[in-house]
Amino acid sequence: MNASGFGFHSTAEEVTATVDLRGKTWLVTGINSGIGKESARVLALRGARVIGAARTEAKARETFAQLGIDGIPLACDLSELASVRAAVNTVHATKIELDGILANAGIMALPELHQAHGVELQFFTNHVGHFVLTTGLIDRLAPNARVVMVSSGAHRYAAQLGLELENLDGANDYHPWRMYGRSKLANILFAQSLAARFATDGLGRTAYSLHPGVIRTNLTRHIDDAETLLGSMATSMKSIEQGAATSLYVATQPGLDALSGSYFSDCAPAKTLPQGTDMALADELWEATVRLVAERSGAEA
Ligand SMILES: NC(=O)c1ccc[n+]([C@@H]2O[C@H](COP(=O)([O-])OP(=O)(O)OC[C@H]3O[C@@H](n4cnc5c(N)ncnc54)[C@H](OP(=O)(O)O)[C@@H]3O)[C@@H](O)[C@H]2O)c1
Repeated sequence: MNASGFGFHSTAEEVTATVDLRGKTWLVTGINSGIGKESARVLALRGARVIGAARTEAKARETFAQLGIDGIPLACDLSELASVRAAVNTVHATKIELDGILANAGIMALPELHQAHGVELQFFTNHVGHFVLTTGLIDRLAPNARVVMVSSGAHRYAAQLGLELENLDGANDYHPWRMYGRSKLANILFAQSLAARFATDGLGRTAYSLHPGVIRTNLTRHIDDAETLLGSMATSMKSIEQGAATSLYVATQPGLDALSGSYFSDCAPAKTLPQGTDMALADELWEATVRLVAERSGAEA
């Protein structure tokens, strides 16, 4: 238990027990699986309208049916710029104001190099896709809205080589965990950049990143011997209900504004790699991402 009154063992339902989200709308990516599905369930349980993004609308619709939630399904394949842009347009067309975006979807540790638009796939899916989605929806974010980036403690795999912005295609010495780590470091830095931008627009909007814990989900699908890996971490693993707790805490707990930009773990602020608080690096990432997207957009048009 930490100062928030919550900790490692807290569940998403517990951290939101006193929260009333009626009248609020949250967009959640990756709702069809793992902690995204549990996050959507608990947001709806507390009264929020949920816009649920999955690779296809059918997947999102099916998830809402399974959960018994009357949500808004949204097709958004984060590895396809056209799909992300279509999702942005669809949300704009609804005229709904968003009270938050929970950027939760992700892929991890692909054993071999895969690319989207010529960019290493984990970086594209986990960072670039969410960057395009979120920046495309900034105008739809209500006053006091929150953006929550689900990062990972595994951002530490980027400790030695950092963001490797000169290796965006991942072709230089591809390593599954290092590339996952840099995508998750990018999530942290993107939250920092958003927080800095929000701090000056007077709308009270904030941004955060977090490590959800180690949870048995479909995330390990690309790892050959996932059982051995998970077995070695058995004592430090969370249930899915616990795994969604920090996301829901950061999304809904009142009084976090002064911590905008921070990284959380176990429902409390936590330390990142030194690179995770490097604002010059955050700016560099923002500019590199804008450039990368603009270049691909030219090719796409
Ligand atoms: N589980 C852990 O131990 C752990 C630890 C640290 C951080 N995290 C982070 O937690 C987040 C949620 O992961 P999870 O554990 O719940 O894994 P999960 O069960 O595999 O869920 C990941 C979600 O992301 C979606 N996704 C993947 N690629 C996508 C794409 N191109 N477009 C749209 N959606 C896509 C998946 O959709 P499909 O099912 O269609 O692929 C799925 O809904 C991730 O960001 C992950 O990095 C998890």
